[in-house]
Amino acid sequence: MEQPSEDRNLDYQRGTAGAADLHDAAKREVKILPAGSGNVSLPLLIVSSLVLIVGGGHLFSTSNGFRDSIYADKYYHPDPRPVVAGAADAGAKVAWIDEWMDEGKKVYGNCIACHQANGSGLPGAFPPLAGSEWVSGGTKRLGAILMAGINGPFHVEGQAFNQLMPAWNSLGDEKMAQVLTYVRRTFVQLPEGEDGVVTTEMMKSARDEFGAHVAPFTEAELLAIPMDAHLSGAKVNLETGDPL
Ligand code: HEC
Repeated sequence: MEQPSEDRNLDYQRGTAGAADLHDAAKREVKILPAGSGNVSLPLLIVSSLVLIVGGGHLFSTSNGFRDSIYADKYYHPDPRPVVAGAADAGAKVAWIDEWMDEGKKVYGNCIACHQANGSGLPGAFPPLAGSEWVSGGTKRLGAILMAGINGPFHVEGQAFNQLMPAWNSLGDEKMAQVLTYVRRTFVQLPEGEDGVVTTEMMKSARDEFGAHVAPFTEAELLAIPMDAHLSGAKVNLETGDPL
């Protein structure tokens, strides 16, 4: 093995290096830091930032807000006719329309303060739904009214009203359909052969047609919709709720 050459200029061995030289040499040494406290290298920093940004972005765009709805089968519809408790025939089902009306009655709780439980309204302030030509007419006007509300003046059964009927579109299509079904089948005499049913599908078409109408309707705008016009959507079997 080769011996260190005598030529190596180890000044300090010869006693010729000054204190200042020794300090300089010591300063040039790389400090040995305790494990874990060294600087992170720039390339590593860049790579890991990229991983976080790209990975985070991917998670954000594909996680569906961590809701499980993406796993629900869109073709699965829960049985709309629950078994009647205590019914003689254990398998007996409630007719779809009865359940739809029960739900509609619950939603009608939103309307009672103004139109009253029996649909009579309050004379001079809130119009009656009972006997109203608006309620017995086509479903299109009613869909429009629930989607955006009404700004008076407004006439019902020959009486004038001048208040604000609020919009109910935030209830969602199903609840709006249920309450309109309840109102039509409870408070008015419907034209011959009309079952009074408003379906969720019909309210969807109301949303398509009137959803962009943000301001409440005026009476003139509503009168421009033909009195007997209906929202589009299939009629349903009242026993099962299936489209006919
Ligand atoms: C804050 C009071 C108020 C509430 C709550 C209310 N309405 Fe009205 N509604 C009115 C007023 C007032 C009018 C008449 C229009 C006007 O004066 O602007 C009206 C008109 C109507 C009309 C057309 C006129 C008629 O009498 O046939 C229908 C249909 C109707 N409302 C249904 C509903 C339904 C369904 C609900 C519940 C989801 C409801 N309203 C909740 C105040 C209200």
